[in-house]
Amino acid sequence: MPESINHPRRHMVLGAGAALAGSILPLSAFAADPLKVGLIVPMSGPFASTGRQINAAVKLYQQKYGDSVAGRKVEILLKDDGGIAPDVTKRLAQELVSRDKVQALMGFGLTPLALAAAPIATQGKVPMIVTAAATSIIPQRSPFIVRTGFTLAQVTAPLAAWAARNKIKSVVTFVSDYGPGLDAEKVFVKNFTEAGGKVLDSLRAPLRNPDYAPFLQRVKDAKPEALFVFVPSGEGAAVLKQFTDRGLAAAGIRLICTGDVLDDDLMASIGSAALGVVSSHHYSAAHPSAANKEYVDAIAKMNNGMRANFHSVGAYDGMHLLYEALKQTKGDSDGEKLLAVMKGMSWDSVRGPVSIDAATRDIVQTVYIRRAEQRGSEVYNIEFDQVDKFKDPGV
Ligand code: PHB
Repeated sequence: MPESINHPRRHMVLGAGAALAGSILPLSAFAADPLKVGLIVPMSGPFASTGRQINAAVKLYQQKYGDSVAGRKVEILLKDDGGIAPDVTKRLAQELVSRDKVQALMGFGLTPLALAAAPIATQGKVPMIVTAAATSIIPQRSPFIVRTGFTLAQVTAPLAAWAARNKIKSVVTFVSDYGPGLDAEKVFVKNFTEAGGKVLDSLRAPLRNPDYAPFLQRVKDAKPEALFVFVPSGEGAAVLKQFTDRGLAAAGIRLICTGDVLDDDLMASIGSAALGVVSSHHYSAAHPSAANKEYVDAIAKMNNGMRANFHSVGAYDGMHLLYEALKQTKGDSDGEKLLAVMKGMSWDSVRGPVSIDAATRDIVQTVYIRRAEQRGSEVYNIEFDQVDKFKDPGV
C-alpha cells in the first residue's frame, strides 16, 4: 500500500525538516531580520528644528558606522508627529509597535509627547530612547525608557550655583509653563535661595503661541539684577528680541538661561543680542575637542551648513547606545535584554564623557557654564566652567 510505504518516509523528511527548523533556520532568519526603529519627532510645526536636528544625527551615525550592527540591518522608520499633540505621538507609537513591529522607539521632541508614548513602550516591551524631552520624571513612566539627552534640573542647578557665586543677588525666573519649565523654575529657585540669593518673582508663559512682551515688561518693572529664562529650543530668538526691544539690557538687567534659549540652531537668528549672555548646558557646537569639530563639520556638510545643536547630539548618542547594546546582546533585540546592557553603559560622546545611570536610566554627564562670544562672523556659546559627572538632581 502506498500509504504504508510513504508514511515512514514522510516522517523522516518532516523529522529532518523539524530538526533543521529548530537549529539553522531560526538562527539565519534571526540574523537576516532587520531591526526596525520607530523614530518619532516633530518634522513640521513650531518645533520642526528639533526633528531636523535629530534626523540629521541619525543619518550621520548610519553613514559613519553603517546601517547594520551585530548582523542586523537597522531600519529607521521616521514619523512626523507635528510636535504639539500627545494623542498623535501615542497613536504613531502604537502603530509602529503593533503593526510595523519596531523593536525600539526613539526621539520624542517634547515632554508631553514622551509621556504619552511611555505606556506603549511598557506594553510592547520595547526600549524607548528619549533623545530630546527633558522633564526629570520621564524615565519613571516606563522601565523601558532610557534618556540620552539631558534634564532641565541637571543643567539648571549648576547655573543657579554659578549665579550665587558670582554675586548676583536678585533674580526673576521666567519659564514656559509646562514640565521642563516647571522643573527649571523649581530647581533654580531652590538652589539660588539656598545659596543666599533672592527670587523676586516667578513668571510662566504659555507653551502654545506665547507673547513674551508683557512678561518682559513685568521683569523690567521688578528690577532684578538678573533674569533666569528657560524656553524650549526654537523659542529663544523671540525671547531675546523682546529682551532687547523692551530695553532690559539697557536697564542693567543681566540675562542668564539654560542652553535651550541660546540653541546653536538659532544662534544665527539671535545674533549679537546673545553676546555676553551666560548659560548652562550639556552641549555647545563650540565644545573644544577634535571629535566634536569633526561632528559639527559633518552635520554642516550633510545639511546645508546647519549648526549641530544639543538635540542632534542626544540622537547621535541614542544611536550609539542602541548599536553598542546590540553588539553586547549579539544582535538579540529582546527589549529586556537590551535594557539590561544599556543600564550602566558609558562612552565618550562628542559632548564629553557620559554614562547611563543603572538605577534611573537617565544620562550622567558634564554640565558646562558658557558665555556667548563672537567667533569670526558668528556667535558661539564658549564653555568656561564645568561640573563633571553630574546626575539629574530631580525636582
Ligand atoms: C521638553 O519638552 O521636554 C523640552 C523641549 C525642548 C527643550 C527642552 C525640553 O529645549
